[in-house]
Amino acid sequence: MTTPERTTVPATPAPAAPGVPGPSDDVPGPSDTPSAAPDHEIPRYDDLRYRDVFWAARDYEDRCDRLAIRALLPPTGERLVEVGAGYGRLADEYRGYREVVLLDASEAHVAAAREQFRDDSRIRVEQGDAYALPFDDGSFDAVVCVRVVHHLEHPGAVFAEFARVLRPGGVLVLEFANKRNLKAILKHALGRQEWSPFTTEPHEYLPLHFDRHPLEVRRLLRRAGLRVEEVRAVSLFRLPMLRDRLPAGWLAAVEGPLQGPLGSVTPGPSVYVQARKAG
Ligand SMILES: C[S@@+](CC[C@H](N)C(=O)[O-])C[C@H]1O[C@@H](n2cnc3c(N)ncnc32)[C@H](O)[C@@H]1O
Repeated sequence: MTTPERTTVPATPAPAAPGVPGPSDDVPGPSDTPSAAPDHEIPRYDDLRYRDVFWAARDYEDRCDRLAIRALLPPTGERLVEVGAGYGRLADEYRGYREVVLLDASEAHVAAAREQFRDDSRIRVEQGDAYALPFDDGSFDAVVCVRVVHHLEHPGAVFAEFARVLRPGGVLVLEFANKRNLKAILKHALGRQEWSPFTTEPHEYLPLHFDRHPLEVRRLLRRAGLRVEEVRAVSLFRLPMLRDRLPAGWLAAVEGPLQGPLGSVTPGPSVYVQARKAG
């Protein structure tokens, strides 16, 4: 995939609230208080190459994402928001929800989603920033966020936003790029990679692209008030020698039963978690 350009968004101050700590990954505000957005950058997806080029060759990964979402997302509910929804690739997974909001920062992706769903009155498409969600507290049963965390410099601030807009007992389904994956462990063990996959700081493999350690993500979710209930290891066979030779449907069928059991060791490049806001 080509690396998207970036837009810098200056920090927005937290609303004055005596005794409320300032913005930080480690100390998000309480879940019923709008969070301050720290100074951050947003990658710019200025065209539709992500839809027309990147996903044209990734049937296997698309199937794996869907398997994980079907396993972790409550099948029905009132209101769901997908944050960083892109052009709406996964929107058909949300059929059981009465109202669906697809939010994304990219004008090109938002325009494509609006065009695709213009006849579907259940789906609303909004342009916006994950660090400052334009929604009321407690207004969603479910938040979904797939393939976005790797673009976040301050994921804790965004997780605090997820917790704020979820109702008590609401569910977050979150995907992140896994730093502690088997390929990275082997390369490190063989001396072909300097950075350690075992330390919990993020690894920035390209500008504004971060692999994160599962323990770091779990810690940030907990601090945002979101309790991890299930973990799945995803895209286990994302290796060109397998992906280019074997049918995507076959690989995904083998992966399906493995995603849950391997969630405790997460050997794959992608991890999905289901987390719940205390009810
Ligand atoms: C790799 S794409 C994933 C799109 C979609 N979730 C999918 O899996 O097909 C990343 C998306 O996140 C969006 N994004 C990145 N940072 C964002 C932010 N701070 N607020 C809203 N959207 C953001 C980008 O515009 C882009 O559409």
